[in-house]
Amino acid sequence: MNLFLVYPLFNINPVKAQGSFLWDDKGEKYLDFYGGHAVISIGHNHPHYKKALADQLEKISFYSNSVQNELQEKLAAKLGKISGYDNYSLFLCNSGAEANENALKLASFHNNKKKVVYFSGSFHGRTSAAVSVTDNPKIVAPVNSSDHFVKCEWNNTAQLEQIFAENKGEISAVIIEGIQGVGGIQFPSEEMITSLKNLCETNDAIVIMDEVQSGCGRSGKFFAHQEFDIQPDLITVAKGMGNGFPMGGVLISPKFTASYGLLGTTFGGNHLACAAGIAVLEVIVNENLMDNAEKMGAYIEAKIKDFNQITTIRRRGLMIGIELGQPCAEIRSELLNKYHVFTGNSNDKNVLRILPTLNISEKEADIFIDALEAVLQN
Ligand SMILES: Cc1ncc(COP(=O)(O)O)c(C=O)c1O
Repeated sequence: MNLFLVYPLFNINPVKAQGSFLWDDKGEKYLDFYGGHAVISIGHNHPHYKKALADQLEKISFYSNSVQNELQEKLAAKLGKISGYDNYSLFLCNSGAEANENALKLASFHNNKKKVVYFSGSFHGRTSAAVSVTDNPKIVAPVNSSDHFVKCEWNNTAQLEQIFAENKGEISAVIIEGIQGVGGIQFPSEEMITSLKNLCETNDAIVIMDEVQSGCGRSGKFFAHQEFDIQPDLITVAKGMGNGFPMGGVLISPKFTASYGLLGTTFGGNHLACAAGIAVLEVIVNENLMDNAEKMGAYIEAKIKDFNQITTIRRRGLMIGIELGQPCAEIRSELLNKYHVFTGNSNDKNVLRILPTLNISEKEADIFIDALEAVLQN
């Protein structure tokens, strides 16, 4: 059987990884400054993470959600404490799209409404409702398209107000990323956050904050939205939460009431996933990784800000968008092929997306900085 070819692949076959580095099958070493697409939060194969997973594998790796699983409670307690959302409850699932899908359903169950507002530049995943609120018509299949989903221009508060006025009483939720990742590292304005918070409050609509990419310490705070005065009704997480173990979750405000069968999943919150998630949170706390994300992000920004061809740097913690005066494809490919540094792109072809592990050192950052300087001087 052949693979269904949906991914354009680099001709690199990684067989080993440690910290910020990968090695391919020929023994070549690569610096991972993209965290395997914003996933590797505490570094590849972190010893504490490896041990937690290996120990769990010796005990029990899976049973369905029909039995007690104290690891889920331990994970929820730790997540509540580190995020400051102690009074929220947690639903565990397997991916970012699934977290958003469940959040959109929860909102709709809660207020019995159907319409959802999303923003230009957004990416929320590829499942049914999640892809419908993603601003990329190429990945929205006819089966997913419907007039329930209303697009608002990013940071356009007047348009948001108009949408609420035109759809009076019909809007179930507004979904927004803490920081737009796929959109090219774009920050919501304080005005937009205040406006959507107030509009949702007065119109019985739910605020869904997608922290799948910007969460778990990447922005220097546990959640990117925590730089603003807002407590979203639902917060979705995935990616860095499991450091490569597939998992996602929805943090749910006390205004929602759970009932048996309302949501469900076979694999979500399994023993191995919880062991991974707990280990990640322990490492983030024990190694002060949120502080390191801010410190190292500032270090990189200061070193590269005057480089040739860089027009703007958009950054919170270690979520960095480097806007160039030209498309970044060739620069990215030279960084990878000549200097062995993985970086990311975005839907804005001029933006290089940098998402290294949260525990990078200055020495590791310097490898990227020197390579970028060399490539941009050409
Ligand atoms: C902000 C955001 N939400 C949701 C998703 C979807 O996550 P997953 O690929 O785990 O379904 C992504 C993936 O890139 C994302 O960046």
